[in-house]
Amino acid sequence: MIDIHSHILPGLDDGSQSIADTLRMVRQLQEAGLKTIIATPHVFEGRDFLHPEEIQAVTEQVRLQVAEAEIRIEILPGAENYIFPDLPKWAKDGKLMTLGNTGKYLLIELPRLDIPRYTEQVFFELQVLGLTPILAHPERYIGLMAEPERLLAWVNKGILLQLDLRSLTGKYGPQVQHFAELLLGNDLIHFVGSDVHRVSQTEAIYGEELRSVQRIVGEEKFEAITRFNPQRILAGERVQGGEEYFLKELARDKKGKRGFWGWLRR
Ligand SMILES: [Fe+2]
Repeated sequence: MIDIHSHILPGLDDGSQSIADTLRMVRQLQEAGLKTIIATPHVFEGRDFLHPEEIQAVTEQVRLQVAEAEIRIEILPGAENYIFPDLPKWAKDGKLMTLGNTGKYLLIELPRLDIPRYTEQVFFELQVLGLTPILAHPERYIGLMAEPERLLAWVNKGILLQLDLRSLTGKYGPQVQHFAELLLGNDLIHFVGSDVHRVSQTEAIYGEELRSVQRIVGEEKFEAITRFNPQRILAGERVQGGEEYFLKELARDKKGKRGFWGWLRR
């Protein structure tokens, strides 16, 4: 299994603060069944901008330490890019780290409350450059719960979605959990990620969340979103596409029944 979203690199963001913590986090993920972790520190426009070379260098250090600690797990570089209007220009100039450094996929984060008006433009310009945007934890944006059609339109234009496993525990509240289950149930999720920031105090982590994913989507889809789709990222290949997505619950709404979205908007 491959985790495409994690904050395990020490000292680069609000995630791990020491190599000791990084090793504990990595060990916990390995015990949950992960074989590969893509490290995705937060990248923001501005003074504290994190350059891809720096991400690459710290990833290399962590790889060495993980090997020395005899933890059998692969660590690859990546970034979680907070959206800004010039993001495509920065990508074009080689200033952003793609997932696995394969030059094809960018993990993107949006503001939690208001989705910026320029979001579609940024996605489109990235696609023109041959980059596929992957939206981090779509279920956690309040702004998208109010406008699920917007999310659906993105997916139909080739934007891919990464679920945060912790959303399934109710950590972010019942609405986020319900939204997460709905997206999974409608086959709208392409990847999962731990979004791990620190060492978990409980021994077993992510096992239950992964079982929930498996229960909702079935074995075949589970393999796709935890293994085959992320493998394609790392090979720089295209992840599915061509099918038209729709929301079953939304379709039901049109027949006059109160669907899930009605519940969310209350
Ligand atoms: Fe994150």
